[in-house]
Amino acid sequence: MDHYETGDVAKKYHATFNEGSDDPILIRKAIDRYSKFVNNIKEAGHILDAGCGTGRFVKYFRAKNFRVTGIDASPSMLEIAIKDNPDTEFFVMDMRALTFPSSYFDGIWNSGCILHLDEEGAMSTFKESARVLKKDGIFYVATRTRVEDSVIVEESTEGGKIVVNYHSVAKLRLLLELAGFEIIGISVEPDDFGRPFDYCYIFARNLNEQKLGENKYFQLNSGNEVDIFVCSDGAARI
Ligand SMILES: C[S@@+](CC[C@H](N)C(=O)[O-])C[C@H]1O[C@@H](n2cnc3c(N)ncnc32)[C@H](O)[C@@H]1O
Repeated sequence: MDHYETGDVAKKYHATFNEGSDDPILIRKAIDRYSKFVNNIKEAGHILDAGCGTGRFVKYFRAKNFRVTGIDASPSMLEIAIKDNPDTEFFVMDMRALTFPSSYFDGIWNSGCILHLDEEGAMSTFKESARVLKKDGIFYVATRTRVEDSVIVEESTEGGKIVVNYHSVAKLRLLLELAGFEIIGISVEPDDFGRPFDYCYIFARNLNEQKLGENKYFQLNSGNEVDIFVCSDGAARI
């Protein structure tokens, strides 16, 4: 994701979303979600902040005495996260191809990243997250959403154009179920920062029951190669 490596985008992102997030309502909303997540994770459990950016949420997890590992594709974003959290473990890593062992984490927090990935990227991320999460581990996903799946080139908050993948709630749900998760909570809310789009917040539990064969090709809307698969409600869909 080259965007976060461009100019002073990482610094601007940090100023807007980390340093500039002192609004009490914003903090309460973030803490509500954060509490819902951590309340389902054992004491001192190991949390992966996938796509941690400049480390906005890392400090919350650390304050509650969780072990935290942060990964991000952008070295510039991580540089700021490391400076703010010098005793935390961070890696430059692609969330679609994690290098951690299987069943390694108690919880995975993925905030504001899936919008950078197309359907195949989202699916790879969900599969990889299921692999590195322990059984019954909690997966949190927050991403922009629209009723219809849409890919839109937009001016980003930090400046510069970005390609935004708005995944529908139905599709996110389906991909997560295919990757082996049970959905335990979904809400769609207006963006916390007042921008003109909605955010979808999903809490899921890892059942460790992936519903796709390793070599099956999955593309929901392409009309190309399509497999039939069985979802957790027992229905066969294409
Ligand atoms: C909007 S920022 C969110 C950062 C942070 N989670 C937060 O809520 O403040 C999106 C982040 O996702 C990272 N990212 C995008 N695609 C990624 C990928 N495939 N693997 C790892 N990180 C990725 C970007 O580098 C960026 O730091």
